[in-house]
Amino acid sequence: MLPPIRARVEDARRISPDVIHLTLSPERRISDWKPGQFLMLSALGVGEIPVGFASYGKKEFDVSVRSVGGVSTFLFGAKRGDHVGVRGPFGNGFDVGALAGRDIVLVTGGCGIPPFRSFIHYLRLHRKEFGKVFLIYGARSPADLLFQAEFPDWEQFMHVLTTIDKPAEGWTGCVGFAHTRLADVRIDKPAEAAAILCGPPMMYKPAVAALLAMGLPAERILLSFERRMRCGVGVCQHCAIDEKYPCTDGPVFSYKAVLEEMPDAL
Ligand SMILES: Cc1cc2nc3c(=O)[nH]c(=O)nc-3n(C[C@H](O)[C@H](O)[C@H](O)COP(=O)(O)OP(=O)(O)OC[C@H]3O[C@@H](n4cnc5c(N)ncnc54)[C@H](O)[C@@H]3O)c2cc1C
Ligand code: FES
Repeated sequence: MLPPIRARVEDARRISPDVIHLTLSPERRISDWKPGQFLMLSALGVGEIPVGFASYGKKEFDVSVRSVGGVSTFLFGAKRGDHVGVRGPFGNGFDVGALAGRDIVLVTGGCGIPPFRSFIHYLRLHRKEFGKVFLIYGARSPADLLFQAEFPDWEQFMHVLTTIDKPAEGWTGCVGFAHTRLADVRIDKPAEAAAILCGPPMMYKPAVAALLAMGLPAERILLSFERRMRCGVGVCQHCAIDEKYPCTDGPVFSYKAVLEEMPDAL
């Protein structure tokens, strides 16, 4: 297993009450990554966690980390000039070649959005290759909607549909879980379209049911799974779901594969 590469924190910004957004510059260039792939991010001497790439295409890259436990809470305190460790890229990511030419529905909630920000950066560079793109994003409260300052820019080339879990003072937008906003998605040929889900596990069943009801096929409803990981390279078995390892076989699986090969996944 390759040791982590040291990376300097070039920028550290708290973008919600419990999420920090870091721009990292590794001392050695890491391999090119695809949207949807992840890296193992270590707080030196504390521990290592999997996180998705939140940007695309530069030597420097972004990650967004929600403070939920030991390692992520330590990283939440990172400052410009600190050093972290990075290993990767790992996993299959989104198959952008197979998505080309299609309308795409991205469904996310909470801190599931970073890999979609990477895809959105890719989309901006390759916009003509894709049909309509919808981002459906649910958060607990307005303050928890990550990257909201970037939405006006994203809306220049895609649709951004947000919702929050409960009514909040000053919020005039939609209230309800992410899947409820699928009712506002207008695509001409759902049987040709694709959807990607990345977010809290409770979002997956209702979102998949709604997408199937819209006419999307199970093989093009793609689910990105967040599992506890240790090695990231298919050795330790920490991430196993049935016979599959999300670190190497995933983290992105089609719903068809989940039905046929991973009955314990949802
Ligand atoms: C492929 C992949 C991409 C991810 N991308 C991001 C990202 O971009 N940003 C981000 O903030 N988080 C992401 N995660 C989740 C992140 O890895 C966990 O939040 C982190 O490992 C928690 O570690 P900890 O030491 O801070 O918490 P711990 O003290 O280990 O655990 C605290 C809580 O988090 C849960 N947890 C622990 N590990 C995971 C895990 N791997 N996935 C989900 N829940 C976990 C535990 O069950 C517990 O409830 C991703 C996970 C995977 C597998
Ligand atoms: S994290 Fe070790 S096998 Fe997947």
